[in-house]
Amino acid sequence: EPTTRPLQSPPAIPVFGHAHLLAPEFITPIRKLTAELGPTFALTIFGRRIVVTSDADVVEQVMYESPFFTKKIAGLLGEIQPVGGRGLFTSDTSDPLWAKAHKLLIPGFGTAPLKQYVPEMNHVTQQLTAAIDQQLGEPVMVTEWMTRFTFQTIGMCGFAFDFHLLDAPDAPMHPFIDAMNYCLAEAKVRSSHTRLYKWVPSRTNRKFDASLALMRQTVEEVITHRRANPDATKRDMLNFMLTSKDENGESLDDENIRDQVITFLIAGHETTSTLLSWCLYFLTQYPTVRERVLEEAVRVCGADPTAEITPQQISQLTYITQVLKETLRVRPPVPALGKSCVTSTVLPGGTLVEAGNGVMVNINGLHHSRDLWGPNPTAFNPDHFSKENEAKRHRFAWLPFSTAERACLGMAFAMLEAKVALATLIRKYEFEYPRAEPCTFDPVAVTLKPLDLHMLFHARTEL
Ligand code: HEM
Repeated sequence: EPTTRPLQSPPAIPVFGHAHLLAPEFITPIRKLTAELGPTFALTIFGRRIVVTSDADVVEQVMYESPFFTKKIAGLLGEIQPVGGRGLFTSDTSDPLWAKAHKLLIPGFGTAPLKQYVPEMNHVTQQLTAAIDQQLGEPVMVTEWMTRFTFQTIGMCGFAFDFHLLDAPDAPMHPFIDAMNYCLAEAKVRSSHTRLYKWVPSRTNRKFDASLALMRQTVEEVITHRRANPDATKRDMLNFMLTSKDENGESLDDENIRDQVITFLIAGHETTSTLLSWCLYFLTQYPTVRERVLEEAVRVCGADPTAEITPQQISQLTYITQVLKETLRVRPPVPALGKSCVTSTVLPGGTLVEAGNGVMVNINGLHHSRDLWGPNPTAFNPDHFSKENEAKRHRFAWLPFSTAERACLGMAFAMLEAKVALATLIRKYEFEYPRAEPCTFDPVAVTLKPLDLHMLFHARTEL
């Protein structure tokens, strides 16, 4: 029997336990509690014990789920589940459909199959710069433009669906996107209310249902259209799903393909947009890093920012990769992950977790741990990701895409897309962040995204 140590907890109140401490946002209170109580502590949320941890050894054990831990949809993900359905992101690891879809879809997301999307990524990037060119010298809402860019990219690459988000600087948001944003924002509200909230016939609940119906209908039409007009030359994600078969000759049914399409759209837009937005912001704050990014982009891709960037060039953008990784460290778009304990066990350090307990893997805490990143973890320093430094570090110190079985399927896609965008934008523009005070994060967003990030873009006169 290993010896166990009780975990510390802050004072609780009846019924809520500690739930009230985590609203309206949990990043700040979790950071403060970590500073006070150490990397691993316990909270009680409406009667359920949750172990919060940013200890890399503990995280390692939790991320290799089986046989002690699992991803079981609850909390915020539970509220997103009506939207993502039984798509990969909002399914339990124990759901046989998750295992089937995971196996079928993984081959479509490797580095080699993703190369085919690079021309389209270049094309959408050029649409983005054409829109920015119309707004030179004016404050531009960076997160909105990056979201238009990532949405347009995943729509075109994934499903040959044109949301027309970059046709003009004042292009309207597609109704699908308004509907999705409404549902995601409402999911966050629901996650901090009692269960009753979503069952009352309120205006917000009716709008949620109508928005979901609109999203499903849009995607169902795309699937029906593709089934009626098959095009074997197109190897996008939709074709991949419609034609792939597992070892039993089975493929995914149309309802599940619909849920997967919606899932890729949810999982693939705001995360990558958040990464790009913070990255542009950090480049305004760290001129030496910015100069190195520019030097590499010009050296590898040439001086003409309208020439198509090739997969071969992308693979040489090593410093830009470090900068993107550092951005994901300092501002992980997904700041925490949830797991459930299925078999009681003792964690490294002697903490007993019991079956039914939840675990919050505190990614943001892990990324700011002094033990893992040295005395100044808040400073933006891409050298953290030099080959030597990466090799020295704990393998679970950096987890913006999660890891192991339930890791992000779109990691390579997101990194490709971000590299094409960054290598193009840096050669075309000088960026200016006009305010003296630093940019903070948006407390109500689903991802850790910048709040009200306005920047000015100026055309570069020479390279
Ligand atoms: C899962 C992060 C981009 C598709 C995840 C998870 C994280 C994550 C942390 C695990 C969630 C959990 O355990 O609950 C990110 C970040 C991105 C990004 C930081 C961009 C910078 C994308 C893109 C796509 C995508 C572009 C689609 C093309 C998915 C899917 C899953 C997932 C399908 C669920 C995988 C499974 O459990 O089988 N992502 N993601 N992601 N992501 Fe991403």
